[in-house]
Amino acid sequence: MPCSDSVWNTAPTSAPAQRKDRYVPGSAAHPAKMLPQIAAHAVATYTKPGDLVLDPMCGIGTTLVEAIRLSRNALGVEYEPKWASLASRNASFASDAGGGGIGAVHCADARQLTEVIPTALHGEVNLVITSPPYGHSVHGQVRSTRETGERGVVKKDFRYSHDPTNLAHVPTAYLLDAFTEILTQCRTMLSPGGKAVVTTRPWRERGELIDLPSAVLAAGKAAGLTPTERCVALLAGIRDGRLVARPSFFQMKNVRDARRQGIPLSVVQHEDVLIFTKPGRCAARAQPCDRTATRSTAFRSRTCTTGRHDGCR
Ligand SMILES: C[S@@+](CC[C@H](N)C(=O)[O-])C[C@H]1O[C@@H](n2cnc3c(N)ncnc32)[C@H](O)[C@@H]1O
Repeated sequence: MPCSDSVWNTAPTSAPAQRKDRYVPGSAAHPAKMLPQIAAHAVATYTKPGDLVLDPMCGIGTTLVEAIRLSRNALGVEYEPKWASLASRNASFASDAGGGGIGAVHCADARQLTEVIPTALHGEVNLVITSPPYGHSVHGQVRSTRETGERGVVKKDFRYSHDPTNLAHVPTAYLLDAFTEILTQCRTMLSPGGKAVVTTRPWRERGELIDLPSAVLAAGKAAGLTPTERCVALLAGIRDGRLVARPSFFQMKNVRDARRQGIPLSVVQHEDVLIFTKPGRCAARAQPCDRTATRSTAFRSRTCTTGRHDGCR
């Protein structure tokens, strides 16, 4: 398994350019999508074609799309029916475009991961890639006020949903307990030696720094995973040896507001990437065996199969 560089050059182009023609309409509305190149880099670095990738909080399915396009198979779980349905359509779109892999999406609570995913796939996942929901203050896009006649800057697409039980809407301590539970279940899903890649970043709540990366590191250890690397995935491009920042309007606004209050904030232009390994040696790699049959049965469906809510299809 190759080692990765600790700085990932993942934003040579902007997020919309990376998504162009690869995601179905409506995908842009998710407030906290992973930059596609981050998922692609993790898949290319830690898996080989035919491997299985899992995202327990998959949003619109960026990790699935990038895995499928690199000829890996992918499983996603997402709590919100709206995002799960988009993830499912994005995964099918990637397969139909000749991606080489297939995907299945379950609309469910990731704390029930091992009940939702068929037992035939337990211990079969080679890579988990995921990102917990965090820091809603920097989410959202600016809505054009020309047609509506509204005054000032109007935000759109900054909510995951209105459901208070979505982990995006719970206090940080509760989120971390839940995320520890999710990582514990991911450990069951992983094959020995399999990796879990978690992207995260610090944010501020009423001026106070919330060091989510350190908390996620602790959550991974509590889940029985071994931290093996800590990397940086760039959200800024590199031109003539210099970083070219690509902050959103609301990131810039938050930084300006903070500086006005004397808080010396900088625009964050990277994600922290924490890489964990499931302890144990991978017997399958030492002694190759054919697991294709088991997997294809468990991959019967390419659509949103498990309904947390009625009508989640
Ligand atoms: C940071 S976003 C992930 C975005 C994703 N990587 C993408 O590119 O679209 C976190 C996701 O976790 C979902 N989520 C929140 N609580 C959850 C739960 N209990 N189980 C599964 N997903 C959950 C949210 O709805 C949100 O879509």
